[in-house]
Amino acid sequence: MKLFKKILITSLLLLLISSCASKKTKRIIRVAHNQANVHPTNLGFLAFEEYIESKLGDKYDVKVYPSELLGSQNHMVQLTQTGAIDICVASNALLESFEKNYEIFNLPYLFKNAMHYHASMNDPLITADLFEATKNSGFKTVTWFDAGTRSFYTVKKPIHSPDDLKGLKIRVQQSPTTIRMMELLGASATPLGFGEVYTALQAGIIDGAENNELALRDNGHGDIAKYYSYDMHQMVPDIVIANAAFLENLSEKEAAIFKEGFEIAKKVQNEEWNKAVLDSKDKALNSQGVEFIEIDQTPFQNAVLPLHQEVLDKNPEIKDMYERIIAKAKEY
Ligand code: GCU
Repeated sequence: MKLFKKILITSLLLLLISSCASKKTKRIIRVAHNQANVHPTNLGFLAFEEYIESKLGDKYDVKVYPSELLGSQNHMVQLTQTGAIDICVASNALLESFEKNYEIFNLPYLFKNAMHYHASMNDPLITADLFEATKNSGFKTVTWFDAGTRSFYTVKKPIHSPDDLKGLKIRVQQSPTTIRMMELLGASATPLGFGEVYTALQAGIIDGAENNELALRDNGHGDIAKYYSYDMHQMVPDIVIANAAFLENLSEKEAAIFKEGFEIAKKVQNEEWNKAVLDSKDKALNSQGVEFIEIDQTPFQNAVLPLHQEVLDKNPEIKDMYERIIAKAKEY
């Protein structure tokens, strides 16, 4: 009986200790974005979660919120400024309104190809200062994600040349540079949040939109817009930002682990990209009935390339970055 009592008390004590240990509150790290579960961005963040929790799991609990669960991208950036969200993804298009030098990556036909784009985004001589520039606004850039190449897609008729865009209402991102680009192409730019595009297409409020191929599959745009025309006007990166105070409060050791975690997230996201494009095209073509149209890009380039000089004249601060990017093109 005595032995039984001892065992009982010891078991109860052990139970109490273990329940206390599991109640030790962990700091929740909220990571938010506007893409679907299957999107490379979500896969990148799941790898980040796994890595951070494998190294610092006793202290941090990473929670990934996809699909605009914590609000539109614009809203998420504001919540990251205040620290209600720790980490989120903002399209570079949107960041131009928070820090004007981001307009550089919204310029149409800036990069020669995907390799030139990746090499430029990975070059600290091009991006390091810019990625720090917003710290007084409450956030910093910790890495970038691939968001492919943007082209036009429409509901009623295909786009073959800028003339076909005349008078059409095309949804664009909330970026002054992009709106100006659309003016040069003769279309009527309709800035909307990403989550509003499907309904706007369905209701006929817009005649089309522009994005990478994944929007057809993941956001259902291919259910409504059946013509995807490869004019390939922009490669707008997605920018991963984090609350500045959160980053500054990390110990040196933790900061190094988070840095590695962001690298892993980017690596996985980038590696998944091409696969996702192929899969999205396959679904769009075979299940959604989208037609992919190869077109001559020259008239589009001729119409919008003057925008480079226009933006450089208005904002000479980006000249150095611009020249480095252009010089790099020779290598690819
Ligand atoms: C892409 C990009 C998103 C962006 C969206 C948009 O999907 O990855 O970050 O929000 O385009 O057109 O708004």
